[in-house]
Amino acid sequence: MAAPLDIASIRAQFPALAINDGNAPRVYFDNPAGTQVPSQVIDRTVDTLTSKNANLGGYFTTTREAGAMVDMAHQACADFYNARSASEIVFGQNMTTLTLHMSRCLGRKFKRGDEIVLSRMDHDANVAPWLLLADDLELVVKWMDFDPETYEFPEDALRKVLSDKTRLVALGLASNCTGTVNDVKTFALEAKAAGALVYVDAVQYAPHYAIDVQALGADVLVSSAYKWFGPHMGILWAREELLTETFAYKVRPAGDDLPHKFETGTLSHEGMAGCLGAVEYLEQFGQGDTRAKRISTAWDKLVAHEHEITLKLMDGLRSVKGLTIRGLTSANALHRRVPTVSFTLDGHHPNALAQGFAAENMFVWSGHNYAIEPVGRMGLLEKGGVLRVGLAHYNTTNEVEQFLSCLTRIIRN
Ligand SMILES: Cc1ncc(COP(=O)(O)O)c(C=O)c1O
Repeated sequence: MAAPLDIASIRAQFPALAINDGNAPRVYFDNPAGTQVPSQVIDRTVDTLTSKNANLGGYFTTTREAGAMVDMAHQACADFYNARSASEIVFGQNMTTLTLHMSRCLGRKFKRGDEIVLSRMDHDANVAPWLLLADDLELVVKWMDFDPETYEFPEDALRKVLSDKTRLVALGLASNCTGTVNDVKTFALEAKAAGALVYVDAVQYAPHYAIDVQALGADVLVSSAYKWFGPHMGILWAREELLTETFAYKVRPAGDDLPHKFETGTLSHEGMAGCLGAVEYLEQFGQGDTRAKRISTAWDKLVAHEHEITLKLMDGLRSVKGLTIRGLTSANALHRRVPTVSFTLDGHHPNALAQGFAAENMFVWSGHNYAIEPVGRMGLLEKGGVLRVGLAHYNTTNEVEQFLSCLTRIIRN
C-alpha cells in the first residue's frame, strides 16, 4: 500500500495556502474554477520575466533562452498528456479561446448538412463554439443526453445519435458541475468507427487523474493549466497528422511548422514557463525513468487522499435534511467522479449559501458556473443553479470538517 501523503509538506509548497485574513485561514474549495500554484510555478514565471524576456527566433541571448524555455514547456505538456511529440502541443490563452479557434479550423472540413454531436453534460466552452460553427455552416446538431437521476450517460447515449453523417463528437472527460467522469474511451471508439472526429474537454479531469492521449483514442484534447496548479494558459493536444492536414487561421509571415501554425501572435512566455513549473511540481509524486511515467504515476498517489476527503464531505452533506448532492455519491463510484461536489439545499438559494461560506473565509462557487447544459437538464437554471464545492489534493480533512460545521451554522441562522 502506498505511503499516505504528507499534506503539510505539500501545502508548504503553495505560498497562497499559508495566507490568513486576520485570524481566518483561507479555505480554498473553489478549485474547479482555478487552483492555487506552487513555488515551482512562481519561480519559473519570475525567472522568465527576469532573464528571458524577449520574442522568439532571434540571435541574441534572451531570445535564444526564451526559445529554449518555450520548447521545454511544450515538451513538459507533451509529457503531461503522454503525447507522442511536443509538436502536438498547442498553447493558447485558455480552453475557450483555443476551442473557438480550433472549431473554426476544423470547420473547414465540414459542409452544410453534416452532423455534430454535443453533450448535455458539458461546460459551455465545449458547446457554444460548436453551436456557433453549426450556425455558420448549417450543420445539424445532435445531443448526447445524460440521465439526471444517475448523473451519468447511459451506455447507448452516443449510439442513439451517431450516424454516417456525424463529423464530430465534442465531449468532456469530467463535468465541472456533477463531477461525473465520462467513459470517453468507449465513446471515442464508437465515434471513430463512424468516421467522426473526437474533441475532448479535459479541463476538470486534468487536476485529478492521469491523461494518456495515446490510449484515449480521441483526436483533440484541451485543458487549462490554471486548473491543475499552473498559470492561466490553455493547452491543446491534437494528433500530429490532424494538425498537419488542418487549415490554420494565421497571419502570412507565420510558418507552417507544428505546433506554431496554430499558436497565433506572441503568447505568454511566462505562462508557458509556469506550465513547465506545474508539470515539475506534479512529477515529484511519481516514479519512473521518464517524466511521462512520473506524471502518470503521480496521480495514483494524490487520488487516494482526494477520495478520502471527498467521501468525508459527501457523508457530512448527506446527513443534512433537504440537501441533494447533484452527482454520484456511492463510495464505490469515487473513481467515476472528480472531487467536485455540487448540491442544492431546500429553502436556501445557492448564492446565499456561498455568501455565508465567504463570511467565514471559505471559498466556493454558486450558480451554473457556465455548465448551463447540465444545470438546465437538471431543471436548476431558474432556481439559482448549485452550490459547488471543489476539492484538490492540498485540501485537508480538517478543512472539510470546518466546512460542514459552517454549513450547520448557516442553516441554523
Ligand atoms: C469543464 C470546463 N471546460 C472548459 C472550461 C473553460 O476553461 P477556460 O477558462 O480555460 O476557457 C472550464 C472552466 O471552468 C471548465 O470547467
